Amino acid sequence: MQHLISIKDLDAKTILDIIHKAYSFDDNHNHPTFDKPKILATLFFEPSTRTRLSFESAMIKLGGSVIGFSDAKTSSIHKGETIYDTIRTIEAYCDAVVIRHPLEGTARLAANATKLQIPIINGGSGSANHPTQSLTDLMSIHKKLGKLTNLKIAYMGDLKYGRTVHSLVEALSLFDNNEHHFIPPHESLDIGCDFIQCLTDRKQTFYKHKNPILADILKDIDVLYVTRLQKERFPDEIEYSKIMKNYQIKKEHIEKVKKEMIILHPLPRNDEIHREIDELSNAYYFEQAHNGIAVRMALLHTLLVSDHLKK
Ligand code: NCD
Repeated sequence: MQHLISIKDLDAKTILDIIHKAYSFDDNHNHPTFDKPKILATLFFEPSTRTRLSFESAMIKLGGSVIGFSDAKTSSIHKGETIYDTIRTIEAYCDAVVIRHPLEGTARLAANATKLQIPIINGGSGSANHPTQSLTDLMSIHKKLGKLTNLKIAYMGDLKYGRTVHSLVEALSLFDNNEHHFIPPHESLDIGCDFIQCLTDRKQTFYKHKNPILADILKDIDVLYVTRLQKERFPDEIEYSKIMKNYQIKKEHIEKVKKEMIILHPLPRNDEIHREIDELSNAYYFEQAHNGIAVRMALLHTLLVSDHLKK
């Protein structure tokens, strides 16, 4: 693995290797560090809290340093520079790049641009892909439920524009016997045909549901994956407000769920999960965000440490 652009770059074994490596970084003060000084550049063309800061924290914990920007207006892109020229320049300033961009394909473009072959990591591209969020989601499921197979997962929220759902569906479909339930708050936000095709090709079971908050289905579910509506990718603000008004999970909706069922959310949340849910043992989204550090440490260590230290 040289770059991480899409979850499609990974197979089930590599995902499990990263998760197991992440466990060795989790709450372990004697974790491995870099043998030589390393620099990570974070190029964020879209807002971010968890992805950027957990990457930065992960890099610092590994003994490395961080450069970059979180507002493209402060970079030369604002003067009309291309991503190609940006990468050809900053590849000499750092050992790896994490890039987030509203346009799909930008991380791939960056990976094709590097001549010094530094690792490029996709920190979220348009509504297409968010592979490191998926690794965090998978580690969270594995940590809480002990497996990534034979699970019933319900995806609730913006299944059309939400990149975290897209990557997670592809990732979980690499593991045997998972059952996927799609519950968009409105039919216009349903999961796309590409993902249905991917599930069909991989012989995974899936169901599409109409009713947004279906306690009946939720009672058999192992993982409830909730996302916010991607307001910034919505073509129509009025439509957004209408759907948003009826989209909120409250305690009463999950009264009959399994005791060990976990609720995940990539965050940030708007109003889709009522604050009263935070107190329930099923709520795991803040711990999920914390798991992002160990996962990103494992990933950076894998991509940046010389071969003989990779294990
Ligand atoms: C997500 C993203 O940026 O796609 N956040 C994250 O990285 N944890 C989810 C979102 O913005 O809704």
